[in-house]
Parts: sequence; C-alpha cells; structure tokens
Amino acid sequence: MCSDVVLVTGGAGYIGSHACKALARAGFKPVVYDNLSYGHEAAVRWGPFELGDILDSQRLSEVCERHRPVAVMHFAAFAYVGESVVDPAKYYHNNVVGSLTLLETMRACGVRKIVFSSTCATYGVPDVLPIGEATPQRPINPYGASKLMVERILSDFGSAYDLGWTALRYFNAAGADLDGEIGEDHDPETHLIPLVIDAASGRRGPVSVFGTDYDTPDGTCIRDYIHVADLADAHVLALKALCAGAPSDVYNLGNGQGFSVREVIAAVEQVCGRPVPARMMARRPGDPAALVSDATKARKQLDWRPKIPELDRIVDSAWKWHQKASR
Ligand code: UFG
Repeated sequence: MCSDVVLVTGGAGYIGSHACKALARAGFKPVVYDNLSYGHEAAVRWGPFELGDILDSQRLSEVCERHRPVAVMHFAAFAYVGESVVDPAKYYHNNVVGSLTLLETMRACGVRKIVFSSTCATYGVPDVLPIGEATPQRPINPYGASKLMVERILSDFGSAYDLGWTALRYFNAAGADLDGEIGEDHDPETHLIPLVIDAASGRRGPVSVFGTDYDTPDGTCIRDYIHVADLADAHVLALKALCAGAPSDVYNLGNGQGFSVREVIAAVEQVCGRPVPARMMARRPGDPAALVSDATKARKQLDWRPKIPELDRIVDSAWKWHQKASR
C-alpha cells in the first residue's frame, strides 16, 4: 500500500481539484503542480501548491525532490477540442511534449506510478455503442490524438522502465463537489451543462444547440455525463490498485447512459424551475453523434461505483455551484 504524497499536475483545474479532495479524504497528501494557465489557486485546498509548468523539467525535479511523491496524477493539459483543430502545435507541445517531460523527470527522480487523465475523444467516431476499452482508437481531432499519444508513451515506458500506469478515459465530466467547495469554472466556457445553466440564470444569452439533424431520437447529440466526484473517486481507486501491485491498464469512466442535448436542457429546466432560452444552430465541426461508455471494466476491476449517476443530481450539483459562485 502506498501512503503519503501524490503530485497532482493540473490540480488547480476542474477535475484535478476534485481529485485532490478525494485523495485527501482517502489519507493521501496531494501536492498541486499547476501553471495556473486555466486553473485557479482558490481551488487548491487540500495540500501545498507549487506553481510550475509540466514543460519545465528543472522546476518539476525541484518539486519532486522537495515533496518526494510516491505517485503522480496527471491532469495538466489543454482540453478545448475546437482550439486543438486550429492550433494543433499548442496541443501537441503541451499535452505530448509536456507529458513526456513529466515522465522523463519522474524517471530521473524515481517516481514509478502515474494515473493519467485520458478521454473518450481518443475513440473518435465509434462504429458500435456502448464504447468498451477495446473499441478502436481513431481520434478525429488533435486533442484526442494528443491524449492517445500519451497513452502509447505510457505503455512503452511501462514496458521499458518499470513504470506502473493507469489511463482513465473519461466521458463527459460534469457537476460539482456536493459540499459546494469547488466546481466547474472554465474561461472560456464551452461545455454544455454550465452554458445551459448560464442561459437559465440569465448570466448569458440563449444556449446554442449545435445540430438538430443527427441520427439520434431527437436529432441532437448524445453524451454520457459522469459526475466529477465519481471521476475523482476512480482516480483514488486506480492509484490504490497500482500501489497494491495491479498491472498497468486502461479504463473507461462513464455512467453508461446517454442523454441528448435537448434532454440536458430539459433536466436543467426542471432543476432550476426556469425555462432555458435556446436557439437551434448548425452542427459543431468534429462532434460525434453519440458517445456512451461501457465502464464495466472499471466496475469490476477497480470496484468503482458511481455515487451520483442520475443526470438530475449531476445538474443539481452544477446549479448549486453556479448559484454560490455567482453570489
Ligand atoms: N453543445 C451544444 N451547445 C453548446 C455546447 C455544447 O449543443 O453550447 C453540445 C455539443 O455539440 C455536444 C454536447 O453538447 O454534442 C456536449 O458538448 P461539450 O462541449 O460539453 O462536451 P464534448 O462532448 O464536446 O467534449 C467533452 C470535453 C472534451 C472531451 C470530450 C470527450 O469537452 O474535452 O468531452 O471526453 F474530449
């Protein structure tokens, strides 16, 4: 069993900060390493903060020497799919070169375990739903490709250098900490649930529905929304499994249930008790019609059970965070 310090890259971000809370609750000491390009220092609440970039190996070494982590949880990445299409260099440099720098530094410092934040975007447009881990990975944008490249690097480092790794492929992360301590705060915000909530509260104008002519029951895209605290729990379970000697592996993380854009809007209307102004728009380039996970493997091998699988509870937690954040 591992104990103690876990270095959390991107720990000031949305999913990373929730992972820090889950780590602390499980008895680990999360040390956040974040360049604050998108993260928020206010979200660092469960351990020390070290300002730094994953591309800066000297700074990473210093931090590893100071805190002596037993493992790394690696969230630091750029994650705007659309931006990755117009500026792929930014994505390959930060997400791939940055991860390689991190792994080489870990190797030099003798840190031998890593839990990596991967994505269902590595699958691209699947032929069959739900998506299991054996589904062919054919990413359709540089963001997904950058994450797939890191998975490959992990696998090769694992074989050659005695690195234990777990790659967690998330579906659509959503919701906020149930205690209201942290939540989703992206700038710019591109994700559906916060944008629908903003439209409901009047903070922004009508939400755009990107595409109403998909081959889905109501014509809008279907996604598998998974509560961020459930993602965080899966990271802790993956880390504990690695520490207990489990082999390196990949796991999908989702609820296995798909909801359309229109269903998400209806759920927000119900939770907020307000109508959501919406306007029908053209498809957003690069959006697959439907992405739904088969996360049986994580349930079986990590004993992972999502605690907040219902869409209305996910939306409710996001709504409460929104109300708190806008006070
Ligand atoms: N959508 C709208 N209007 C909006 C925003 C989104 O209709 O204003 C639609 C999208 O077209 C999509 C769905 O809502 O069908 C969900 O969109 P999000 O942008 O919230 O999420 P994505 O499914 O596009 O992408 C998310 C993450 C990516 C990650 C991907 C798969 O943003 O980083 O899940 O993991 F790669």
